[in-house]
Amino acid sequence: MYIENSFVSPKRSSESSNRLFKYYAGYSTDFVRSTLDQLVKNKKAIILDPWNGAGTTTQVCNEFSLRSIGIDINPVAVVLAKAGSLNKPISEKRLNKLFEHLSHNSVVEIDECDFLLQFFEIKTAQFLRACERGIAVFFKMKGAAWNSDLSVDHAFLLSVFFKVVKLYCKELEGSNPTWIKIPKEECRIKITRKKELLSKFRSEVVLALQSVSESKESSARIYLADSKLTGLKASSVDFIVSSPPYLTRIDYVVSVYIELAILNFPSEKVKQLRDATIGTPTMISEVSHSFTLPSYCLSLMEEIRGHHSVSSTGYYDKFFWQYVNGIFLSSKELYRVVKKNGVGVFVVQDSYYKDIKIDLSQIFIEIFQLHGWKLKMVKSFSVKQNMTYINSRSRNYRKDNSINEHVIMFEK
Ligand SMILES: C[S@@+](CC[C@H](N)C(=O)[O-])C[C@H]1O[C@@H](n2cnc3c(N)ncnc32)[C@H](O)[C@@H]1O
Repeated sequence: MYIENSFVSPKRSSESSNRLFKYYAGYSTDFVRSTLDQLVKNKKAIILDPWNGAGTTTQVCNEFSLRSIGIDINPVAVVLAKAGSLNKPISEKRLNKLFEHLSHNSVVEIDECDFLLQFFEIKTAQFLRACERGIAVFFKMKGAAWNSDLSVDHAFLLSVFFKVVKLYCKELEGSNPTWIKIPKEECRIKITRKKELLSKFRSEVVLALQSVSESKESSARIYLADSKLTGLKASSVDFIVSSPPYLTRIDYVVSVYIELAILNFPSEKVKQLRDATIGTPTMISEVSHSFTLPSYCLSLMEEIRGHHSVSSTGYYDKFFWQYVNGIFLSSKELYRVVKKNGVGVFVVQDSYYKDIKIDLSQIFIEIFQLHGWKLKMVKSFSVKQNMTYINSRSRNYRKDNSINEHVIMFEK
């Protein structure tokens, strides 16, 4: 029998800032550890995280020698999650070979619609593409990095490369840590010291490898997929643990524009990716209204529509509906893939629209129950620092920004 009070707080501690690859929305490793430790007794269980981000869940599963599947719609998250599965250092001999190759192949012709060109001037874009292609050739990979099944070593090197390139892009970052500006043509980033970048890249690889300890090969399967349609077999998963996207209008796609450009993600597909990402602030043209909003969602919708603020009707109400619809379709899909009596544990956080408090746990409970998920328990923790502080104007609407983070447990 599970004891409710034994869920530890999912709030991230300093542990997350020491993580090898930073991802804005990561959740606590300790929370995943303690949840799996207490709730997964079958060593053969298959664990799923349908919103795997930089792979906290899949990494903890590796530690526990549990089989896991990590899904994310964002190609950058897939690369970071794979990189986190590296279980043995890359030898110095291999690194010498790679960097020799990169220094001899520092320019390639690039497509005129290459996404890199939106951020970097032409010569810099050619150089960065040459590096990305050079790494791909080294790993004998032909396809575009963003939708290929990369090896863990390859993903690791790309993740370090992201970090190094981003050091040159500080001026594109603003006060919102999840937003990257697209510069005007004359302000595109120019990197003249290419040798210096390669040498920094190498030293960062060596540094990152120091925190890789040799362990058993990971059995995590990390995929690029949509939680609304995972492609997984019915009744194939024993346990789900995840932190879903929140209702905070964070644009996970914009926050990793530079990384997507490095992966040669097609610029014409960016809007499509943003639209398919749950919680997107973009307006999706066709959202099917395939179900009736349950009572809490409906009362919130009415409250939003009745709010005097200009964007309440026509923008925020649509945004809210898109989000709820994404969770509706995903919870249906997760119900399909989980085995009978399988369990799902989700960490969600409240937010505000102006002065309207949105209790995300209630939304999840109502929506998940529509498909047959049985609520087993909810445990709430109060959170002080949160995304609502990013918008300083929000303080004009309310004095109290306190919100809760909830752990919700369901069973099929
Ligand atoms: C809160 S973050 C998860 C962070 C993760 N737990 C970690 O520790 O890194 C939510 C993730 O959901 C992903 N996501 C959003 N919509 C999705 C969808 N439709 N299918 C799959 N993943 C999606 C986002 O790309 C983001 O990485």
